[in-house]
Amino acid sequence: MELKATTLTIKNRIAYILINREKALNALNVDVMDDLSLLFESMLNKQDLIGVIISGSGEKAFAAGADIKEFVSHDQKIGYDLSAKGHRIFNKIENFPTPVIAAVHGYALGAGCELAMSCHMIIAGEKAKFGQPEVNLGLLPGYAGTQRLPRLIGRAKAIELLLTADIISGEEAVQLGLANYVVPAGQEITKAEEIINKIGQKGPEAVAKTLQAVNAYYDKAQGGAEVEMKLFGEAIASNESKEGVAAFIEKRKANFG
Ligand code: CAA
Repeated sequence: MELKATTLTIKNRIAYILINREKALNALNVDVMDDLSLLFESMLNKQDLIGVIISGSGEKAFAAGADIKEFVSHDQKIGYDLSAKGHRIFNKIENFPTPVIAAVHGYALGAGCELAMSCHMIIAGEKAKFGQPEVNLGLLPGYAGTQRLPRLIGRAKAIELLLTADIISGEEAVQLGLANYVVPAGQEITKAEEIINKIGQKGPEAVAKTLQAVNAYYDKAQGGAEVEMKLFGEAIASNESKEGVAAFIEKRKANFG
């Protein structure tokens, strides 16, 4: 398997996926997304896995969002397709038959937060920061953030975070039900391993069936996913997002008029 922007290590029946774009704060560009798709497809054949841990390289970030620099000339169709592809890949993670845990030590913003939310559990380090700052760019989340965030933390708080772009700490993420635990910095993966090893002692078929049943509850809500893809396509082609993306690249505040 040829991976372009991630690495896979398997040890003691746990798969460790590391996002490897430290200089871009592990922004989820096309290469990372293609790797994740390939990884979660190919790991389905590894029958003896008891869990997967996703983390980001470097000190600062789990993943600081989709790669904004790839958005510059996106039109409505490309935006829709990008969003639909993100949904498909993150659904593969959510539907994976063994527990997938996001070990978040730094920024999990935008698509980075959406990636963490597609995992079955989130372990936050004490320096973790979560948020959906897409409105700052004249955008909305495109990888199911409008769907998973309200599901996880409830409508009122989700709407507040989606519209204010406020960034929250690991501790707040636990209080809101977004993350499972907040742990001392550097302990994120150890805590994830502890949970996976506990689950690894249970019947693997019962674990897979339990995950499938929990996911089935949410399948009813799939209509909203299609709406998000359509609106993300419209937003990425809009003058607002052209200004928002240009402002990010030029390191200035966006002027939405
Ligand atoms: N895309 C592309 N590049 C990114 C990036 C992103 N999402 N986030 C950070 N980078 C790059 C920066 O451009 C910078 O690159 P250069 O050194 O070449 O200038 C490098 O990573 C380091 O970042 P900063 O200098 O900005 O680091 P900082 O510590 O000052 O700030 C930050 C950190 C607050 C996370 C800031 O980088 C930031 O706001 N990033 C963008 C967050 C964001 O808006 N995410 C949502 C993206 S849109 C999305 O995800 C849509 C979707 O749902 C599908």
